[in-house]
Amino acid sequence: MPRSTRFALLLGLVAVAAPAARGDDPAPLTRRQKGDLAIKARAVLRKYCGECHGDAPTRSQLSVLDHNQLVAKGRPVPFVNLDAPPRSQVIEFIEDGSMPPGGRERPTPEEVATLKVWAAARAPSYPRAFDDRTTLAVMLDDLDRQDPAAVPHLRYLSLAHLVRDDQLVPDLKAVEGQLQRALLAASGKSVSPDPVDDTATLFRLDIRALGWDTPDLFDRIEKGQPRPDAYPMVPFDLLLLDYPHAPAVPEKDPLAGRLQSFLGAAKQLRPVPFLRADWVGEALAPTAPLAADLKSLVDLGRTTKKAGPPPCGPRVRPFVGPEPARGRAPLTAWYAGDAAADPAPFGLKVEVIRSDSRPTSEVGVGEAFKLRVVADREVRFVLLTVLATGDVRIQPVDGGTVLKRDEPRSLGSPPAKPFVIASILTGAESATEHFVLVAAEGEVPVPTIVRSRHADAADCKNNQAPVWRFVFDAPAGGFDPARAVRKVVPLTVTRKKP
Ligand code: HEC
Repeated sequence: MPRSTRFALLLGLVAVAAPAARGDDPAPLTRRQKGDLAIKARAVLRKYCGECHGDAPTRSQLSVLDHNQLVAKGRPVPFVNLDAPPRSQVIEFIEDGSMPPGGRERPTPEEVATLKVWAAARAPSYPRAFDDRTTLAVMLDDLDRQDPAAVPHLRYLSLAHLVRDDQLVPDLKAVEGQLQRALLAASGKSVSPDPVDDTATLFRLDIRALGWDTPDLFDRIEKGQPRPDAYPMVPFDLLLLDYPHAPAVPEKDPLAGRLQSFLGAAKQLRPVPFLRADWVGEALAPTAPLAADLKSLVDLGRTTKKAGPPPCGPRVRPFVGPEPARGRAPLTAWYAGDAAADPAPFGLKVEVIRSDSRPTSEVGVGEAFKLRVVADREVRFVLLTVLATGDVRIQPVDGGTVLKRDEPRSLGSPPAKPFVIASILTGAESATEHFVLVAAEGEVPVPTIVRSRHADAADCKNNQAPVWRFVFDAPAGGFDPARAVRKVVPLTVTRKKP
């Protein structure tokens, strides 16, 4: 059997990428195949050798997790011999039965074959660990190699968190495919981000290629009116406002300074170093509302260069999404419900009550209602309403914005009036509006409200409207979003009194 065929069969995951060249040379591996090979070789070595040659090698100095050491030259028989792969000590010792020693579980023939194919492919490298910190280090090193003029537009997408030491290689190819479909759905452009590392678990994305970098697409809304200057936000930032997995990088981490200089150049709306590619793939799936939002902004970016009226925005679907949010949805998330750290820093309950004090999820147009709110600690809060057209408003409340510990309050509009929804702006028979309450033990800043420069909802059909968001600008006066709790309360309004 020719070598290439045998290896392909044994490996399974190393499917032949191109028609095999005539002769014995295996088809060149794709980046994904090479990456999977590196991940799998690491997993085999870790499993059978890690106990003694692991993170802190207990026997001999060999650590199989240290790729540099494995491929280093200068030993009579290198651990992994890049020039004569079969003459690698690691492979020889396994084959002659001396390692792992004693009656320990041995690698299967398939696993040994994996190591051989890996060595023959010049042993593509792998990190010691697939954790966030390693990913960050790989990313910062890659940034150092890039043209400084491009850096503000570069973003990184990671698969590393999907690699688990106790699992076989996950189907990263499928995740990459999903990511590419998502990028297409959310930009209209077919773009494949480049892997930057040998395991192909970190990808560099130039947001210019997707039209996700266009400035001047958002206004900041104050008292219902746009301010004259555009709000500094680009389409990509929408992802950050919803992103639930931002890794925390402690200030004293030696990488923090380099990360800060990247974030300073990138001017992102939230300081998120990189995104999980599988999250992006799902959040921007072709049917996902966030994909439509981004795509509509790309289209808007194209038309702002021309004269004429702006296009209509995407269909409005605030707060649809997983419930409870997967991961920790940020306070600004548009497609998640309640959000809080886990465990939540305090208990908070918000419900809509009718005039007879009974809770409800539905009111009629013109019907009076209040919000009953209680927290198990003294907190302050900000209340927003999100209308069925997506419009976000800061909702003034009667009686101040402090909740005393365990003392329920019934919120209404000032002065001492219940809330009333006077009409359904979309013209439909019923519509869902949302109250969003953000509470924290200290002062809660009033968020900035932003709206895309799409045509007004009143001029559009099919529930299309500009993209609205609320943003907590640079943390002011000790406000820590990670210590805040947000509740989202949907309220269906119908024309006929229910
Ligand atoms: C139970 C512990 C144990 C396990 C598991 C184990 N080894 Fe070892 N290994 C040792 C010890 C002990 C030595 C040192 C032997 C000596 O110096 O005589 C060694 C030495 C080696 C050396 C030579 C290192 C040098 O510094 O010269 C290689 C190569 C090696 N092992 C490969 C492996 C591989 C590959 C595996 C997994 C397939 C493995 N070992 C699993 C205990 C282990």
